[in-house]
Amino acid sequence: MSHDEFPTDRPAVVTCGLPYANGDLHVGHLRGYVGADTLNRALRKVGQQTAYVCGSDMHGTPIAVNAAKEGVSPEEFALSYHEQYEETFPRFNVEFDNYGHTHDETNTETTTSIVRALEDSGYVYEKEIMVGYDPEADQYLPDRYVEGTCPYCGEKARGDECDEGCGRHLEPGEVEDPVSVLTGNPAEYREREHRFFRVSELQTYLQGFIDRLEGTSNARNQPREWIEGELRDWCITRDMDWGIDYPGDEQDDLVLYVWVDAPIEYISSTKQYSERVGADEYDWAEVWRPPEDERSTPDSAGGGGEVVHVIGRDIIQHHTVFWPAMLHAAGYTEPRAVAATGFITIDGKGLSTSRNRAIWAREYLDEGFHPDLLRFYLTTNGGLQQDVDFSWSKFQERVNNELVGTLGNFLYRSLLFAQREYGGTPDVDVSARVEERIEAAVADFRAGVNDYSVRQVGNSAVALARFGNEYIQNQEPWNLTDEDPEQAAQVIRDCVQLAKAVVVLFEPIAPGKAEELWAVFGGDDRPVRDVTLDAALEAPAAEFEAPTEPFEKVEDDRVEELTEKLEARIEEATSDEDDADESETDEGEAPEAGDMEPLLEERISFDEFQELDLRVGRIESAEPIEGADKLLKLTVDIGHEVRQIVAGLRQLHDHEELPGTKVVVVANLEKAELFGTESNGMVLAAGEDADLLTTHGDSEPGTKVR
Ligand code: 2FM
Ligand code: ZN
Repeated sequence: MSHDEFPTDRPAVVTCGLPYANGDLHVGHLRGYVGADTLNRALRKVGQQTAYVCGSDMHGTPIAVNAAKEGVSPEEFALSYHEQYEETFPRFNVEFDNYGHTHDETNTETTTSIVRALEDSGYVYEKEIMVGYDPEADQYLPDRYVEGTCPYCGEKARGDECDEGCGRHLEPGEVEDPVSVLTGNPAEYREREHRFFRVSELQTYLQGFIDRLEGTSNARNQPREWIEGELRDWCITRDMDWGIDYPGDEQDDLVLYVWVDAPIEYISSTKQYSERVGADEYDWAEVWRPPEDERSTPDSAGGGGEVVHVIGRDIIQHHTVFWPAMLHAAGYTEPRAVAATGFITIDGKGLSTSRNRAIWAREYLDEGFHPDLLRFYLTTNGGLQQDVDFSWSKFQERVNNELVGTLGNFLYRSLLFAQREYGGTPDVDVSARVEERIEAAVADFRAGVNDYSVRQVGNSAVALARFGNEYIQNQEPWNLTDEDPEQAAQVIRDCVQLAKAVVVLFEPIAPGKAEELWAVFGGDDRPVRDVTLDAALEAPAAEFEAPTEPFEKVEDDRVEELTEKLEARIEEATSDEDDADESETDEGEAPEAGDMEPLLEERISFDEFQELDLRVGRIESAEPIEGADKLLKLTVDIGHEVRQIVAGLRQLHDHEELPGTKVVVVANLEKAELFGTESNGMVLAAGEDADLLTTHGDSEPGTKVR
């Protein structure tokens, strides 16, 4: 990677994929917005100048179709959801510096100017193509107005996307056996003139871009296949009247494809923020480095800022191919990082809004839970790119064990003891040992930020609180106050400092709770939101009031009640839906767990299992195999020897990052030859994402796995 570590001296902007203004927010949405908010707060903590911007995605065919069903205009329909989102995000402490929408004036202007720039630089051309048409409805059938079969994988596909199969973006006219969603009739094809963006000419640029890109490994690896393969030009217009008019074509019902103006809202929203606070405080032009005539001051462009996109993994192609291609061709700053999150499952099954298998944002709050509990669960339950399963019982377990048992317990007992015995912070210096432990936690936090790992950010605070609990438990200051008052004061001084550091490190995850605690003993006039990591070692308040317990246990009967409620409504919705349409699945949501491979009925004996020689291995090297898109050649140390193993990891893992990873190897599998390369064993991995099985502790290569 060619980027400087955070903090840099250039401003950053963190964005999160725009929500379609097309339905209520649920836990699947929140994962992304909370994750990006946490990352933005964590960047601020390391001293990075940054802004968090987003907006509602107002255009596109699903919105037009749903508005028509409700008998309202698409604008009215989308605006009502936009207003709902504006009101809901802050209730989860998701603090956007600007939240706009794609249909506002700023975005219309920015989009128009970018499309003109693409035209001026020769990247747009006109071409006659065949597009779907419904003669009965007398309407063209862009995108979601048409359904059919994916030409690449044969799965059912909707308009512009193969969302149940290979996930590819589909160009107009590509879906096979098209059927109109308006009437159910087979669609006709008619010739129409459309505009195309010459993505194919940007292959060399995109190859370099993907090598520079930071973020999660899925976002850096998946696009290689598309970029290295045949890059096709991209149709950027649609036959409909809801959207941003193609510049100069206002009379014709030709609008820009929703995926043109949606990411441009990242720029427009930054611009609105900058205009509100003034370019001296935050200059959008320094970040996005627009062409000269768009800048607020002619010399304000510099080398561009740090553009960090957080998205769902279903929209990686849009953010790593089309979007950087557009930015580059129009002369704007390219993204520094794309971090793509996994999906949310509910009780092990795919989240489904139509089956009501979801935890709705407003429902969660109405149940009286603090938003920070859900923020903690969503950000630290797994790595950003892993799927996260939500169940009320898992939620209870994490809240009770980590928030109440570890963090809350440490903060409350230390502060209460300090307040009762000393009226606040004992007047001695922090011990060298505790200072070092805090410095290590700060370094861990910093590394998490530079790795785009909000989980690591959160865990740095939890681990510090765990240390604090052990420290106070081992030192037993309550037994020292009489015998060794100096030592008692030292221990409590250390604990109050540890508590302060925990609150500083935990603010990005739980900003509401952190602010409440900070007000009690932070000893700083600034809100904890605004302090940097240095504050972790600055003195807490000399005097403070008694704290209250920061977190409450979730009781078993609550979990039972909430689980029953969830199951009942899923059952109700599923039977309604079965009556309506059994084949319906939801857009942008995880595949149903019903589609998971069933468990095998037939059992094997323990002896049969013993026949497998499973060993801990350590990957020594990993390199692509020429001509094999999916394969990597690995050398793996399995203790007794180093094996050469071929594994299908190429599109899912960054091969440069694999050396050093511990894996589980089937050592006695018969040898095979793949693409002319011998494979002597097998590396175990889970699921479609080839999530590598590794060890939890320090087992050495060669250790038998039983
Ligand atoms: O997939 C979606 O939900 C889109 N509304 C995301 C748009 S993100 C962007 F590019 F603006
Ligand atoms: Zn497909």
